[in-house]
Amino acid sequence: MVKINENFLKLPGNYLFAEIKKRVEAFSKENPSAEIIRLGIGDVTLPLTEEVVDELHKAVDDMAVKETFKGYGPDQGYDFLIDAIIENEYNSRGVLLDRDEIFLSDGAKCDTGNFQEIFGTDNIIAVSDPVYPVYVDTNAMAGRTGDFINGKWTKVVYMPCNEDNDFTPQLPKEKADIIYLCSPNNPTGTTISKKHLTEWVNYAKENKAVILFDAAYSDYIKEDTEVKSIYEIDGAKDVAVEFKSFSKKAGFTGTRCAFTVVPKQAAAYTETGEKVFLNKLWARRVATKFNGVSYIVQKGAAAVYTEKGKEQTRKVIDYYMENARIIREGLISLGLTVYGGVNAPYIWLKTPNNMPSWDFFDKLLTEVHVVGTPGSGFGPSGEGFFRLTAFGSRENTKKAIEAIKKSLAI
Ligand code: MLT
Repeated sequence: MVKINENFLKLPGNYLFAEIKKRVEAFSKENPSAEIIRLGIGDVTLPLTEEVVDELHKAVDDMAVKETFKGYGPDQGYDFLIDAIIENEYNSRGVLLDRDEIFLSDGAKCDTGNFQEIFGTDNIIAVSDPVYPVYVDTNAMAGRTGDFINGKWTKVVYMPCNEDNDFTPQLPKEKADIIYLCSPNNPTGTTISKKHLTEWVNYAKENKAVILFDAAYSDYIKEDTEVKSIYEIDGAKDVAVEFKSFSKKAGFTGTRCAFTVVPKQAAAYTETGEKVFLNKLWARRVATKFNGVSYIVQKGAAAVYTEKGKEQTRKVIDYYMENARIIREGLISLGLTVYGGVNAPYIWLKTPNNMPSWDFFDKLLTEVHVVGTPGSGFGPSGEGFFRLTAFGSRENTKKAIEAIKKSLAI
């Protein structure tokens, strides 16, 4: 008799964005004339930049010629892209990395979800709450989270991030082995300060823990005081793995390219306390399960780092951040309490009159035809909050805010 992985049966409902899609489709079917504006999932709407598209075309031509055709590429990625990443994302901020510390992948969702595979199932995970649901769901699938009771997993350490602590995860009182941090945070749009990140790195060192640091939105940081990579913190290479992506940075949500940094000195331990380096294990895992990002896509991603590429990418990011300003200021003018949207493309608002997040979702969908993401979908501390994304078109962003203003104005 074939047995299933029963951990899957413990997962509550659908994956957050699948549930939203289902509800929006049902509404749309019943109201075919309703023009729905989607500011729910953080999916980009502007096309790839000219520089990227030109390079993609050239790479396709390479594949058409015997002399330049490429079969399987290197598991971890081509040197031309890895070198560009090291120079532009790290050396420029005083961080030195070797080529074999970078692993290209088809997305930060996959890597943040898959990385837990190399750790034992009896580790305790700690997550900021609210947070990107992939971290918790993938650990639940692996059987690391206990049972889901009253909206919480019994074995997960939740670190509530709320107005009282400026949405900053505080060091837990309980023991935690694998700590997920995301800055700028999805969904709150807030950042973790250098001081707090230093505390986290020290905590991980003292407790022989590891930090899985999701920096997928780091390019949206405008304020120079904020950290764009955890490796800007002394000692972080010993305890932290970092995830970054071209999805939000350069409009690659449909093109797919990301990278994970696993420094050679970062380690975990065997039952008997023997040190094992994560880089070696992850390299083994990648070589076994992955055949690399396509050459064409890697060429396109490398174009993001040329002078023209950087300029064009900056313009796209500025466009989305102007949307963020429009959303923020529009909601503030209504008297709503609003966070994020300054160093991140997400706006995190308090629902009016403490309305439950899913009720507010339904209200906006049915009355204003605007889709957002209910805060409770990101964790128990997200209840009473709601997320809007700045990744829509300018026209739709303005329309959505005007419609929300009309509907919520007293
Ligand atoms: C989000 O909306 O939170 C993200 O776009 C989802 C993702 O990146 O997978």
